[in-house]
Amino acid sequence: NVLPYEQADPFLLAQDELDSLSTSIREDLLGMDHPVLNKAASYFFEDSASGKKVRPMIVLLLSRALADACTERGTDSVDIPLFTPPLAWQRKDLPRAQRRLAEISEIIHTASLFHDDVIDEAETRRGLPAVHTIFGSKVAILAGDYLLARASISLARLRNPEVIESMSLIIEHLVRGEIMQIRGSSGDQKRARLVHYLRKNFYKTASLMANSCKSVAILGSYPSEMVMASYEYGKHVGIAFQLVDDILDFEGNLSQLGKPALSDLKAGLSTAPVLFASSEFPELELLMDRKFKEDGDVERAVEYVFDSNGLRRTKELARVHAELAMEAALSLESSIYRDALVHLAHKVVSRTN
Ligand code: FPP
Ligand code: MG
Ligand code: MG
Repeated sequence: NVLPYEQADPFLLAQDELDSLSTSIREDLLGMDHPVLNKAASYFFEDSASGKKVRPMIVLLLSRALADACTERGTDSVDIPLFTPPLAWQRKDLPRAQRRLAEISEIIHTASLFHDDVIDEAETRRGLPAVHTIFGSKVAILAGDYLLARASISLARLRNPEVIESMSLIIEHLVRGEIMQIRGSSGDQKRARLVHYLRKNFYKTASLMANSCKSVAILGSYPSEMVMASYEYGKHVGIAFQLVDDILDFEGNLSQLGKPALSDLKAGLSTAPVLFASSEFPELELLMDRKFKEDGDVERAVEYVFDSNGLRRTKELARVHAELAMEAALSLESSIYRDALVHLAHKVVSRTN
């Protein structure tokens, strides 16, 4: 009973390219002659801490899916033998520019994590001490800025103003999303809170995936419907990804996540599970307003969330977005890479870390 897309393993298909990604990024960063900045900036590009690389994986798979959609019309992915890497992939002819874009998306993401861990005063990241705990906050911020500078140079070298605009918009959105999170929702209506939360999720997570996907399609000069489909795919995968992240903050634990659970509540943040729970338990409104700061607030909020349908409703919403992402991918011609994108959207909602 295996569905066609389940035969296309996104991790397997992108593995070779992803393996060389961190090395390639490190080589690009190593040009500088300052040892501390060099060490700090490369911290998350060492193999032990290089993370899931979801963003570059999406960019790489999408570049192949777009290419195959134009060159292999009518290919039925079901006929492709299981777990045999297709020839196009073996030829290593993935355009250099699209690989650069995959690197740039990972560098921007990493820069935002350096800054994020300073803002959140987080001690650990990916099971390791956060950058600022080793190098200090000043160096961590500057290393993040340095990564953004390197990403900008790399981006300019692609010589495509539309791509530069779309990738720069990501940085604006990351900052906007972070500010929205710090300032909180201004309206006190339940609906306003949820709208604020969903917009913030787009800015802090989905925009990076959406605009990286859009850029990869623009770079390939694909027709506008394919550029749109690429953007939609990234956007919905990104929204689903963040909703699942917010679920895992309740359901996950330190050894699974490499970071402590319940960090959102402890930071005073009301995410989807709490927002949905508050429609069943209006008592949560007060706790949300005071950002779970009084003794026992976090524990009480957790109880309400687990007694409500908050987690279930959040999962449903994540599934809706994963399905919209699948729909966008399925608008491309059939290929094993397209199926891998569909599979990846499914995996995003079933992940446990
Ligand atoms: C992780 O979220 C953080 C982000 C997705 C983005 C943070 C953005 C900034 C700090 C703005 C500055 C941006 C740049 C590009 C330098 P989280 O804190 O909710 O999740 P976590 O549990 O992974 O820390
Ligand atoms: Mg954080
Ligand atoms: Mg944060």
